[in-house]
Formats: sequence, structure tokens, C-alpha cells
Amino acid sequence: MLEKDNQKVYVNGEFYSKNEASISVFDRGFLFSDSVYEVSAVIEGKLVDWKEHFARLIRSLTHLGIVNNFQEEDFYQIQKKLIKENELKEGLCYVQVTRGVAERDFNFTKKSLLPTVVVFTQEKKILNNPASKVGIKIITVPDDRWRRRDIKTTQLLAQSLAKTHAVQKGVDDSLLVQGGFINEGSSSNAFIIKYGRIITPNLSSDILGGITRSSVIKFCQINNIKIEEQKIKINHLMNAQEVFLTSSTGFVLPVIEIDGRLVGNGLVGGMVKEIQRIYLEQIKAKLS
Ligand code: PDD
Repeated sequence: MLEKDNQKVYVNGEFYSKNEASISVFDRGFLFSDSVYEVSAVIEGKLVDWKEHFARLIRSLTHLGIVNNFQEEDFYQIQKKLIKENELKEGLCYVQVTRGVAERDFNFTKKSLLPTVVVFTQEKKILNNPASKVGIKIITVPDDRWRRRDIKTTQLLAQSLAKTHAVQKGVDDSLLVQGGFINEGSSSNAFIIKYGRIITPNLSSDILGGITRSSVIKFCQINNIKIEEQKIKINHLMNAQEVFLTSSTGFVLPVIEIDGRLVGNGLVGGMVKEIQRIYLEQIKAKLS
């Protein structure tokens, strides 16, 4: 659903109404997907894990050599202002940064460009999302993305096709697999639980280092719940007792069916429920 017409959007230093905000057709973000982004959850009108999202934004910009002299506090204030103006209580706040505007040329080294910065919000039920209670159904699909999935770029076509394919097949999402192993969801990280062990694929250029993923790992460790980071074979996924996906847009989402086969008995498992509880308790304590 498109946001209300009076919603404000931030573009390069100014706040515009949604219908007036614009960027150049020669923006490299549009021409080459030469851009990165972050999306943070907003709960009770406050940001979840903004410091961590900012650190990853800087990492993405640095990896791509996009000019960045952004300050964490500046972005924080822009988002806070937008959240207030848009009266957002629960939803998402997106920060998108492109390399900038230039005559179309694959080579971007000719002159230093001024990055384009766009920030917008989106209303979404995150806490009372029915999927977090009843779980989701997924299918596995080949991971067709470029090889640097650890950089959070706006090259999201493969993920968008994978998600759409899942919905067309009557399920909720796709899990991206490669060479017999699982990578991650179309816009989330994956975890399996087997014999009480929680396992998630280790960090590498095959997956995005999710902020929710690292929070879940940290919170489990604080609560003495063992968690391991290692490659996961597809057959281990299919035999798991519980499976869940993590992201800023869905937090901890239980998976109850994969490729038409039930996970466990097909009901949301007890460990996932416990992780959901711990995750919510911890993030609510540090909203900003
Ligand atoms: N996507 N893996 C991929 C490929 C993602 O796109 C995302 C997030 C994640 C989870 O990362 P985090 O926990 O930091 O949100 C993992 C966001 C939510 C999106 O594009 O909507």
C-alpha cells in the first residue's frame, strides 16, 4: 500500500511531500543500482538498532567507494524528524544512498560525485504481524544474485523475483540455496533448530550480515542458549525440528512448511517462541 499523500520524504537536505520528492533520471542508483540502503524497524515511534544499521551503511558505502562523510547523529535526527512528521508509530524507516548523478558511463572515476540521500518511512504491523504467530510457508529457489551479498545494495531484482515466485506458488517467501547449502531468505537470514542446537549460516560474502541475526545470536548467548554459525546443507534444513527467518521487517518469523513438507509437526515450535520473546524484550529495552 502506498503511504498517505501527506507523507514526507527526505531528499538531499530537504523534506518534501511524497508527491513532490524527486531525483534525477541520471542518478547512478537508477541507472546502475549503484546504491546502498538500510531499513530499520520503528516501534512505539522509536528506531530499533539504529547504531548497528548506521555502522553497516558505512561499511556498504566504504566497500563500494561511495563518498561518505555522513554522521550517525545527522541521519538519526533526519529519521526522527521524519518519523514525527509522518506520525509513524510502528513500521519502517529506509535510508537510501546512491553514488550520485552523472552522465551515463560505466566508469565512474572521472569525477567525484555527490551522493544522493533519500529517507522515507512506511507503516507496517511488525509486533502484531499474524505471520509471527502462525508461521510462514516457504520454497527453496536457486540463489541467482551477484556474489557480494554481504554489501547491502539496492540490486534487489533477484530477491524480488524470488519473493514474487513464492507468492505466485501460493506460499509466503523463498529461501535462496546454492550448491546444496542454504544461504538466506529473499530478505532475511535463516536459522534451523535440530536436537536443541540452533544453527545459522556463518558470515561470508554469500549472505548479508543481518542486524536482527546478530542480535538474536547475542541475546541467545546472554540467555545461555547455544547457537552455532556454520554452513547448512539443504537436507539438514528439511529435517530440522524448527526453522525461522530474521529481519528488521519481520523480526523472528517461524517457518512451518518448506517445499510442501511440514517443519516438525507443522506448528510454531517452543524454541522459536522463546527466541521471539527474548528478542522483543531485549530490543524494547534499547529503542532510540
Ligand atoms: N532486508 N538478508 C537479506 C538478503 C536481506 O535483504 C535482509 C534484510 C536480511 C536481514 O537483515 P536485517 O536483520 O539487518 O534486516 C538478510 C531488509 C529488511 C529489506 O530489504 O526489506
